Amino acid sequence: MTLTQTPAWQALTAHAASLRQRHLRDLFAEDAQRFARFSRQHDGLLLDFSKQRITADTHRLLLDLAAAADIDGWRQKMLSGEAINHTEGRAVRHVALRAGSAAPPEARAVLERLQACCERIHSGAWRGYSGERITDVVNIGIGGSDLGPRMAARALVAQHQPDLRVHFVANVDSADIAPLLARLDPRTTLFIIASKTFTTQETLINAASARAWLLAAAREEAAIARHFIALSTARERTRAFGIADDNVFEFWDWVGGRFSLWSAIGLSLALAVGWPRFEQLLAGARSMDKHFASAPAADNLPLTLALLSLWNTHFLGARSAAVLPYSQSLERLPAYLQQLEMESNGKQTDREGQPLAGIACPVVWGEPGTNGQHSFYQLLHQGGQLIPCDFIALRDSDFPLIGHNDGSSGDHHKALLANCLAQSAALAFGQTAEEVRAAGVSESLLPFKLFPGNQPSTTLLLPALNAYTLGQLLALYEHKTFFLGALWNINSFDQWGVELGKTLARRIEPLINAVGDDSAFDSSTRGLLAAVNGR
Ligand code: F6P
Repeated sequence: MTLTQTPAWQALTAHAASLRQRHLRDLFAEDAQRFARFSRQHDGLLLDFSKQRITADTHRLLLDLAAAADIDGWRQKMLSGEAINHTEGRAVRHVALRAGSAAPPEARAVLERLQACCERIHSGAWRGYSGERITDVVNIGIGGSDLGPRMAARALVAQHQPDLRVHFVANVDSADIAPLLARLDPRTTLFIIASKTFTTQETLINAASARAWLLAAAREEAAIARHFIALSTARERTRAFGIADDNVFEFWDWVGGRFSLWSAIGLSLALAVGWPRFEQLLAGARSMDKHFASAPAADNLPLTLALLSLWNTHFLGARSAAVLPYSQSLERLPAYLQQLEMESNGKQTDREGQPLAGIACPVVWGEPGTNGQHSFYQLLHQGGQLIPCDFIALRDSDFPLIGHNDGSSGDHHKALLANCLAQSAALAFGQTAEEVRAAGVSESLLPFKLFPGNQPSTTLLLPALNAYTLGQLLALYEHKTFFLGALWNINSFDQWGVELGKTLARRIEPLINAVGDDSAFDSSTRGLLAAVNGR
């Protein structure tokens, strides 16, 4: 029986028909306990989903749906190492990477090597070809081999190690790597080539340029060993690139690219923040893993997020979902979540190869608040589209900066938090004609000052932003992604949809700046090729 054929789905369909017309104003007016009813805490995190358009019945029916989809069974399969990535014949074991003493021996061995490597670099024991210590590290990778460490290194900038700068290069566009290399000194620069497969075109082209840049200065191949590290599952290919085995930190095919921050792929982050903080990140994720595995469904934070996403997308008709961190340090989180959620669940085919009866994954997008308030929030408030929002806020600032007593500047964090709370309330409750009139607005302006409200949101409050809470936050969204895939019975761990473009690019590339047979291509591609080639 597919999800949409279950009695729980039928019941939700009927329930949604009546609830769709209800306003959050009324839901709050009816239930003074709404915040208490629809908020949960775990290990310092607070998840307030009282501003979602649900009632206790909705919640109960969604939990019935979760049971009907056998989410317990799927969770068990993942945690016990079954090959639930069935189209690639792989297990999904990123949780094992952060299991501490319960991690698989091969994972613990690599962690130990990574720690030793970090310590050599931080202590200055690792020297470049001219005998100088490393001052700059460049992570070259893309997708899951870039977004996680880049986002986390940005998030934890308040806790960076002194004397070591970490940079990230992803795009095959030379405008990414070239200006960076122009600022760096080859004698003191270490490259980390991060690629699970070591076949990714962008990464290999950037790595080759980095290598040429280094060798132009060092003038001897032996310098590669002092300036290149590889993070990969593909030992043969890292060897072929010329990276010494001692400088290769492996991971395994049971770690998906977008779930790989916890593996050797985290090296650039560990270098940025120091090894003890990387361990804190793993510990935070471990705390969320325990919760994911054992918290009752009604209290399970990642399951709650997944069920709300399904409710908003399928039953209320949302097509996108905004992630709005009220934290400048989390500015890269939306980009990271785009890969995590959209590459995992942006699919229309279930595990049996059958078409899905709905949309499993909304478009995920976002920007930090308060910046977004001064650009796209207009549409959230009055654009007439249902766009559920995840607000993410920090109780304490990671950069406390209090204004002067003379009143010349304000308290940044107070203002930040006030805006976050204000926005979720404004989106939920809007502004009625009566309220506009009561504010003395003229009738001619009244239509423009109406705020329909009823825009659902969840607020996640972290006590602070540090490696531990970041680990919790990321594991929370990882498990949300897993549950959403399990609810729809899709394989969240493959990504066949990225392949066609790669194949076509390989066929088109020989025709750029060259004369060749383009007759197999459509007229648009041929026309564009002619224009690119100046014909
Ligand atoms: O093209 C998509 C993808 O395969 C992602 O899933 C992955 O994270 C990224 O490319 C990079 O892959 P790799 O780490 O093998 O270079």
